[in-house]
Amino acid sequence: MLKATFLGHSCVMATDGNNNIIIDPFLTGNPQANMKPEDVKVNWVLVTHGHGDHLGDAVPIAKANDATIIAPNELAVYVAKEGAKAHNMHIGGAYNFPFGRVKLTIAHHGSAAGDGLEYTGNPCGFLITMGGKTMYHPGDTGLFYDMKLIGEMNDIDLAFLPIGDNFTMGVDDAVKAVEFLKPKKAVPIHYKTWEVIDTEPAEFAEKLKGSKTEAVILKPGESVEA
Ligand code: NI
Ligand code: MN
Repeated sequence: MLKATFLGHSCVMATDGNNNIIIDPFLTGNPQANMKPEDVKVNWVLVTHGHGDHLGDAVPIAKANDATIIAPNELAVYVAKEGAKAHNMHIGGAYNFPFGRVKLTIAHHGSAAGDGLEYTGNPCGFLITMGGKTMYHPGDTGLFYDMKLIGEMNDIDLAFLPIGDNFTMGVDDAVKAVEFLKPKKAVPIHYKTWEVIDTEPAEFAEKLKGSKTEAVILKPGESVEA
């Protein structure tokens, strides 16, 4: 069993009933979030890149829960300097954690953190297998053709895909990503947080009609089971 809860923007919390993880925990300052960072109870925090709308509350959440942050090496070094426990990984690498397997995928984007926008290496996406199901969170990225390879090599039950355009894929590119990834369910993320990413999830769902993928539009706080 894998249950994933959307917490607004790009933030996803997931559980297999025993282990709890959170991805890109941007809650403070997130106009969509309806959960406070101090209410988050997780064992692991996964962060795709250093931008504030993804790194977010990762360090305070990790410290409060004695949780470990899983991130690409340079970002893991950054959060460790901030006092959090970190597990450093890098693109193409996978590791079997107590909750499941995590593999880092490429993402076409940038990565920097903090007020001075300190360079935090390459951004990534996460392929997560937990509770017998596989979930894909690509982080912030444009469409890339290797998604076809990711779809061929993995049986993806649930994919979270940015549709907001401007900083990431827009609706049409996300629809193409679904074609490549062939997930059983696809949840649009990274839209409407700000005016510049004001795209329509209903348009994404409409364009997936007739495909083998079910579009699932979640409001912050709502969950989907893989
Ligand atoms: Ni970003
Ligand atoms: Mn972002």
